[in-house]
Amino acid sequence: MKIELRDNKVFIINQGLQKEIHPFWLRERVNGDTFVDKITNQRLFDPTQIHVNVEIDNINLSNDTLEVTFKDGTYTKLLTQNIIKEFSNIDEIKNIKKIKWDSSFKDFKYFKFTTDFFEEREMYNSLIHFYKYGFAIFNNVPVENDFIVSFANSIGNIRRTNFGEFFNVKSKPNPNDLAYTSMGLAPHTDNPYRNPVPCIQILHCIENNVIGGLSTLVDGYTATEKLKKNFPEYYKILCEIKIRFQFIDQSVVLENWSEMIKLDEKGEFKQVRFSPRLDFVPLIEKEKLDLFYLARKKLSEFYNSDDLRIEFKLTSGDLLMLDNHRLLHGRTKYNANDGIRFLQGCYIDYDSTEGKLKHLKRKFNF
Ligand SMILES: [Fe+2]
Repeated sequence: MKIELRDNKVFIINQGLQKEIHPFWLRERVNGDTFVDKITNQRLFDPTQIHVNVEIDNINLSNDTLEVTFKDGTYTKLLTQNIIKEFSNIDEIKNIKKIKWDSSFKDFKYFKFTTDFFEEREMYNSLIHFYKYGFAIFNNVPVENDFIVSFANSIGNIRRTNFGEFFNVKSKPNPNDLAYTSMGLAPHTDNPYRNPVPCIQILHCIENNVIGGLSTLVDGYTATEKLKKNFPEYYKILCEIKIRFQFIDQSVVLENWSEMIKLDEKGEFKQVRFSPRLDFVPLIEKEKLDLFYLARKKLSEFYNSDDLRIEFKLTSGDLLMLDNHRLLHGRTKYNANDGIRFLQGCYIDYDSTEGKLKHLKRKFNF
């Protein structure tokens, strides 16, 4: 990819094709202290106030710099590599290829927490792992009560919900959610009834000395791709029919409608929602429901299959960060009389991990 000039116009040449760069696009990118604030990198002018027919008066291209003078008298120097980078439109996050996994995935890495961890390469490596596999596990995390809040806020910003800034996961009397019992929890995604659904769940193990109480994870990407391959009709209807997810307690009614398998604008995997205690299928034609119920049952079989699930025990000081749009999580049952199983959980959104990852990439010049 390269930049060329002709007839006072700027062109970008990509694989033999040339496209003219709109003069206004260049005008919006003028830099220097007059136009861009040195500290915030934010524009000091409003491009919507500039005449849209702005024209180039003079241009010059040398090695890595494009010099442009516009007819409104503005002059700027632009690095060609920055123009090419923008044109490439590479999404650094989507560019991290998801790796599907199943129950054979055993030797996943634990990232060791240290002082200043959030500004170190290990944090960057853990985020890459998170985007590849949908989760990352840290150990050696201080087991102080509420440490999860500073952990979450050191990556980005905690996402507060009606469960509070963070929540305690241990059995308690009169629970308003099955998570707060010692029952096993089948694989599910959290809070499908929220709008938007929390992106990432963090679970910090303060203490776990019960028998059982293993954490379980299933890759929703693997399961839905398997469904697409083996039962395309089932996959299709689960991508089409929106169902209602609902949570009700004494103080709030939360509802959100969505497909169980949500695809992006390219028709590729985006998100799964699965919480059979909280979903309500709309009353539509019986024939469609015949297919839908079969499809949901099959996908549930995949989600609950021993072939797709990994199980591991979180011990004191472990912290699990999982993608709630991609993975399903659960736990095996335990006996609360055996001892204590005490986890603290909270949510953060993708802007936190994406922002941190891009910051560390810039910092380490990766
Ligand atoms: Fe959960």
